[in-house]
This record gives sequence, structure tokens and C-alpha cells, in this order.
Amino acid sequence: LVAGAMPAAAQTYPARPITMIIPFAAGGPTDVVARIVAEAMSKNLGQAIVIENVAGAGGTTGSTRLTQAAPDGYSIMIGHTGTHAASVALYPNLRYNPVSDFAPIGLVNTNAILITAKKALPANNLTEFVAWLKANERTANNAHAGIGSVSHTTCLLLHAIIGVKPQSVPYRGTGPAMNDLVAGQVDYLCDQVVNVAPQVRAGTIKAFAVAQPQRNAALPDVPTTAEAGLPAYQVVVWNAMLAPKGTPDAIVTRLNQALVAALNDDGVKARLAELGADLPTGNLATPAGLRAFLEAEIAKWTPVIKEAGVTASN
Ligand code: MLT
Repeated sequence: LVAGAMPAAAQTYPARPITMIIPFAAGGPTDVVARIVAEAMSKNLGQAIVIENVAGAGGTTGSTRLTQAAPDGYSIMIGHTGTHAASVALYPNLRYNPVSDFAPIGLVNTNAILITAKKALPANNLTEFVAWLKANERTANNAHAGIGSVSHTTCLLLHAIIGVKPQSVPYRGTGPAMNDLVAGQVDYLCDQVVNVAPQVRAGTIKAFAVAQPQRNAALPDVPTTAEAGLPAYQVVVWNAMLAPKGTPDAIVTRLNQALVAALNDDGVKARLAELGADLPTGNLATPAGLRAFLEAEIAKWTPVIKEAGVTASN
């Protein structure tokens, strides 16, 4: 090889369809964002991106699967705050290192978290919900997408602030958890705006507050946690695109270009805005920016999880 030359495989990349692992069930927030972005990326790359939902263990099963795939650019994934930050403290036997076992491609988006409940729940605002939760702590059902998932860890934070330990009901993603919330089979869910916004607009669930400093443009009528009386509850989560470690730099660069092009696509922007998702800022949509961000997020979440006193096994 002469200096600067690309390996032959990188020059012809991609020559066949790419598999994108989604570590949660179809129809949930990770899956919905991934499909919007993958469709635009595949046009840019000139190859199909095939979504494979590998759910289980709060997203750690699918993440482990990616680390076992060939590092040739034909296997990538969408990980998030749960699989690539909170999991480190939650799973003592985690089978991967979220930074060193992956080649980061770029941050995809950030999502606000909302406190939502079934329609029949007697509370009509956050203050009433907190009172209801304290009064019904032993029987209240908290749906989530598995230990270490975003819906799990963000409700753990809420429980720690309120001082309750309700019943935990794990699903393989918040797609199925949301279906059961709409059907009234579980009581409440801490979920990402992209999964919550369509349901709130359809009037099928209650949303008590959005856990960020400003209201979300997709749900302007839902108060912030500060407005609703719980200013301590602030949490925003993210999705990130990753390849297995050892994926050639030239291929990671090509995937990053396709990701950035997708995020700049007007159709993608409009669909993500309608769902209330925010686009990455600064250098977060670059491989180096994402690597540094992952390290910072692991450092941020580890003490939070340890303080909440929860561990999991996979
Ligand atoms: C979660 O961590 O709660 C997930 O993002 C759920 C999902 O994508 O289905």
C-alpha cells in the first residue's frame, strides 16, 4: 500500500446490503429512529440497509451480537444511553466494553424523556401522579424495555427522587410496552419522545411532564418537570451508530458521511422534528466526538446507577 491508499475492500464499499442491528423490538423508539435514518443512508450508500431486531437484556444482547460480527462495514448497530453507558454499572458481567469493542460512527439524535401513564390512571398532573405512586407503591406497575434500557434507568432515577420502589415489568422494547400502556395493562412508563408524541397526539395515554429544561416542540402542551413541580428530574438520552472494533477507518468514514448526509436530509429532519427528536450538535456526529462522548456518558451514569443500588445479569 502506498501512503493514503485505501484497502481494496474500502474502495468498493459497500458492495452488498448492510445489516443494522437494533437491540430492541420493532416499533419502539430505537427502531423508529433507525428506520428513518437507515432509509436515507441507504440511498446515499447505494445499498440496502437491512434492520435486524435483536432484543433482550435491555439491549445488551444485540450489542454483544455486533461485537461478534465481522468488522467489514456490513454489520453496524444503533446503541444508546442504556446499552453504551448505563449498562457498564448495571451489568457486572457485561460481555463488551462500550468504547473499546466498537468503532463509533456518530451520534444520531437525542431524545427527551417523558413521564407517561395509562389513560385510566386517576392522576391528572405530575403532583397527583407522585402522590398516587407513593400511595400505591407496592402495586404500581412500571413498564420498561429491560434492565439497563433507557426506560428502565430513567424511571429508576425518578423513583430515587420520589423515594419509591414499585413493581418492574420488563418488555423487549418500549414498542410492546407502549402497546400495553395504551391497553391499560400497565400503569406508567418513562419513555422517549419519539414513542410518546404519536400516542399523546392520538389521546391514548397521559403525559405528565418532559424531563428537560424547555418544552418539547412536538408536544408543546406538556409541561417541563420544573413547571410541573419536580425540577430535579432532568434526563435526555441519545442514540449512537456503531460498528465492531477493527472496522477499517475508510469504511467508518464512509458510513459517517452517509449518516451526516441523512441527518441533513430535509425529509429526515422533518420526520425527526415531528417526533420531537433533536439532532446532534458540535462534533458529536463524528467518530472521535462520539468516542469522547461515550466515555463521558459512562462516567456520568456509573455513579447514578450505583447510587440507585441496582444490578442485573445477562
Ligand atoms: C429503551 O431503552 O427503553 C429503548 O430505547 C426501548 C426501545 O427502543 O424499544
